[in-house]
Amino acid sequence: MNLFRRRSVADLQAEVLTDKSLKRALGPVNLTALGIGAVIGAGIFVLTGQAAAKYAGPAIVFSFVLAGLACAFAGLCYAEFSAMIPISGSAYTYGYATLGEFVAWIIGWDLILEYLFAASTVAVGWSGYVVSFLQELGIAIPSAFTSGPYNHITPPDAPWWNIWRLFTEGWVSTGAVLNVPAMLIVGFITFLLVLGIKESATFNNVVVAIKMSVILTFIAVGIAYINRNNWHPFIPPSLVPGEFGWGGVVRGAGVIFFAYIGFDAVSTAAQEAKNPQRDMPIGILGSLAICTVLYIAVALVLTGIVSYTRLNDPAPIAVAINSLGPSVAWLRPIIKIGAIAGLSSVILVMMLGQPRIFYTMSKDGLLPPVFSAVHPKFRTPWIAQILTGAIAMLVAGLFPIGLLGELVSIGTLLAFAIVCAGVFVLRFTDPEIPRPFRTPAFWLVAPLGVIFCGYLMCGLPADTWARLIVWMAIGFVIYFSYGCRHSKLQKPATPG
Ligand code: ALA
Repeated sequence: MNLFRRRSVADLQAEVLTDKSLKRALGPVNLTALGIGAVIGAGIFVLTGQAAAKYAGPAIVFSFVLAGLACAFAGLCYAEFSAMIPISGSAYTYGYATLGEFVAWIIGWDLILEYLFAASTVAVGWSGYVVSFLQELGIAIPSAFTSGPYNHITPPDAPWWNIWRLFTEGWVSTGAVLNVPAMLIVGFITFLLVLGIKESATFNNVVVAIKMSVILTFIAVGIAYINRNNWHPFIPPSLVPGEFGWGGVVRGAGVIFFAYIGFDAVSTAAQEAKNPQRDMPIGILGSLAICTVLYIAVALVLTGIVSYTRLNDPAPIAVAINSLGPSVAWLRPIIKIGAIAGLSSVILVMMLGQPRIFYTMSKDGLLPPVFSAVHPKFRTPWIAQILTGAIAMLVAGLFPIGLLGELVSIGTLLAFAIVCAGVFVLRFTDPEIPRPFRTPAFWLVAPLGVIFCGYLMCGLPADTWARLIVWMAIGFVIYFSYGCRHSKLQKPATPG
């Protein structure tokens, strides 16, 4: 057994040319829209207010810059890989080509935390917005069916190293039965994704146009109401470590990192891009740049029109609008519609990414062949898609948003760090491979990507680490009992 066997980049590039099962239908606009579709969601519509009120104050703007920098380093590395090896396995395949099969498995297994769990997380946020929107219309859904039955409170006396206690203790019942709206939206999007990539991309384009218009309207209307006094002090002084001051800015960056997750999902559509060598970097870096600018503008306007102390609310943008008085009340339902639309497209792109990673892992033999079955008519990986949908529905129905969100962040940060390390390694091991896009100053950008992502991971709580470790342990069992025995790189037994 050779845990470090690698797939050669030349082989992978040949596979790109021969594997025609998925349909090449996406151009640069669709790809950039996919990135924006995946990025702008619960992070900006839900978490920003909480992070400003609890940790950073108006300096949440700096938190956005900090988290944006970590993502920019990772984004540049993703752009290099995705143009060089445009395969739908994304970071998993990049890991396979650079750091070997075992690391590839770790990253593939870890990406489930990013894509599948992000879809569930955002579905729970979507449910919250829809329930409150329906309430405004006078339609009430019984609360037993609008949230999951479990919550988790970190056991206060469990030491950080006691993974078992952190994992098993602290579960409390919420009294609810299931989060039905969250399950329904995941079910609907799964159906859409089975139908076809083109249909899904068109739906995404429409939704992205709606959410961009809503955010731009908020910025345009809000600018006129900015009261500079709300920005003083811009960095509120810290009285407790990790709350306000520079420590709070860093902690805020850890929380709102979630808002940036998703631009990398563009790379999972590489085998459905018409011209991936040129368009992958455009889609990844373009969507990241647009979202960063929008986030910084929203953060400035939000903390400028209302004091950050009032923003600890699941719908902070609505709080800001309410504070402006009846003359802008018209904007309130529009913001809610924007949030609902915004969250739908995040679920869509995350759920588009996951089965494509399963597809590639299955083609490599690390997962059973059923995961790479492509529907004869729709040309989508439909069985993997339905399986992803079923699990995401269950997770969304059962668990709360906070727990899921932190798990998504830690999984994504690990993937980003490995991708940055991979770009660095490959520049030395295979310097001659043509790279349609080259990470500028890779010797600085790639290590900084690893350091920034590692730093943000360290800021996440011990119980999230415990879940990551348990998740990885399950992954190791599956790899050693199935993956490594069925790998296509397994040498056939020599007779005699
Ligand atoms: N970035 C995505 C969101 O904020 C996951 O919803």
